[in-house]
Amino acid sequence: MPKIIYELSDGSTRTIEANAGDNVMQVAMSHDIAGILGRCGGFCNCGTCHVYVDAQWADQLPEPAFDEDALLSESAAERQPGSRLGCQVIVTEALDGITVTIPERQEFD
Ligand code: FES
Repeated sequence: MPKIIYELSDGSTRTIEANAGDNVMQVAMSHDIAGILGRCGGFCNCGTCHVYVDAQWADQLPEPAFDEDALLSESAAERQPGSRLGCQVIVTEALDGITVTIPERQEFD
């Protein structure tokens, strides 16, 4: 089972075993990982599942689709090179150990 390592905004780390085919937002929500809101349920509609994928892993992901790219540009947290929407990052065995950092905020005040 591929593991996802979440680095939380308080500096702590959680490692969760996922199933191939799960997405990073879904796994976070079902394990009470703080800081990922997933307001739209994974329909690439809200941008509240923003994560920073570590460079080592970011290069292995498919490029973001138009909708994801647009939402990331309007994100409440600063967009960085590894920025992705967690609901669009599908876990595979090859991504075992993927590390994502959760930004300090997902929504505008
Ligand atoms: S959960 Fe809404 S865009 Fe990912």
